[in-house]
Amino acid sequence: MDVIKKKAMGERKKILLPEGDEPRTVQAASLIAKQGIADVVLLGSEEKIRKVAGETDLAGARIIDPEKSEHLQEFANQFYEMRKDKGVTQEAALATCKDTLYFAVMMIKNNLADGMVSGAIHSTGDTLRPALQVIKTAPGISIVSSSFIMEVPDEKYGEKGVLIFADCAININPTADELAAIAVASASTAKSLAGIEPKIAMLSFSTKGSAKHELVDKIVQATAKLKEIAPGLMCDGELQADAALVESVGQLKSPGSPVAGHANVLIFPDLQAGNIGYKLVQRLAGAEAIGPICQGLARPVNDLSRGCSVEDIVSVVAITAVQAQNMK
Ligand SMILES: CC(C)(COP(=O)(O)OP(=O)(O)OC[C@H]1O[C@@H](n2cnc3c(N)ncnc32)[C@H](O)[C@@H]1OP(=O)(O)O)[C@@H](O)C(=O)NCCC(=O)NCCS
Repeated sequence: MDVIKKKAMGERKKILLPEGDEPRTVQAASLIAKQGIADVVLLGSEEKIRKVAGETDLAGARIIDPEKSEHLQEFANQFYEMRKDKGVTQEAALATCKDTLYFAVMMIKNNLADGMVSGAIHSTGDTLRPALQVIKTAPGISIVSSSFIMEVPDEKYGEKGVLIFADCAININPTADELAAIAVASASTAKSLAGIEPKIAMLSFSTKGSAKHELVDKIVQATAKLKEIAPGLMCDGELQADAALVESVGQLKSPGSPVAGHANVLIFPDLQAGNIGYKLVQRLAGAEAIGPICQGLARPVNDLSRGCSVEDIVSVVAITAVQAQNMK
């Protein structure tokens, strides 16, 4: 995180915090401004935000109230045009754009900000839906997904203990093609945020045909698709977790593989496996879990856990700022 924060400070990006009157968010905004991690903007009623802030110094942070913004009507018109085929009326568009989350994604869409962080009080769905509807996927990317940077104490795993796990937060039951797309996006996160050269394992309960089942077939197809769409990436599948991570097991079960035994990007078959997997490693192995980091959106938007701390918000803002730098 120190490396990511320093990188964020190097070229400050404008990051929006739509939960502007949420107490942890207000504290985080003060720290982000003081440390120079980003040009931070709290969205909401200025009166409410200042009341929540109390003595907290908000000098370096901006406050924008969507209801009083000169852009509100223009955003509502744009939103209506974008969503009228989905049944959105002009009235509904105006009401929607008064919502700080929608106002934030409209600001980003109009190049008035670089990214947003939310989720201290909103669910994952409520945080991501405006971004999925308005910002949409980056060119050439079919799906938005998420990854965690996991730092395990035992440095023999991954890249000196650093691994990427995906998708642990968004896609519930991805198809083979979607898994391949998640792997490509995770490889990019591995390089740009974790600074590691990706070695991707497409995980299963089978290694190279050791079990036969339609669920295994999906991972075999996903691996083939990944090799087709990203031939330059180091990947192998289907692999069991031990074959992916432990050299002796990897070489026994997938001899000659460039990845088996050394994988640092683990692609889970579905959200049940991914979400359970990262939480087990976090709790039982004492790993630091940074994320979920959204990948594949045209502009960066990240979701917080509702149990997040002030420091977690600062970290996710730094990650979002670095993602924005990388999107140039
Ligand atoms: C991401 C998620 C929140 C989207 O939920 P949703 O709003 O119900 O999704 P919808 O199917 O209504 O889609 C809304 C829009 O987003 C788009 N969309 C949904 N998922 C997408 C994805 N993964 N990538 C790109 N676009 C996506 C849809 O195409 C749709 O666009 P449109 O309205 O312009 O047609 C949903 O996948 C989800 O709930 N995932 C699980 C989250 C969770 O519980 N995680 C637990 C651990 S944190």
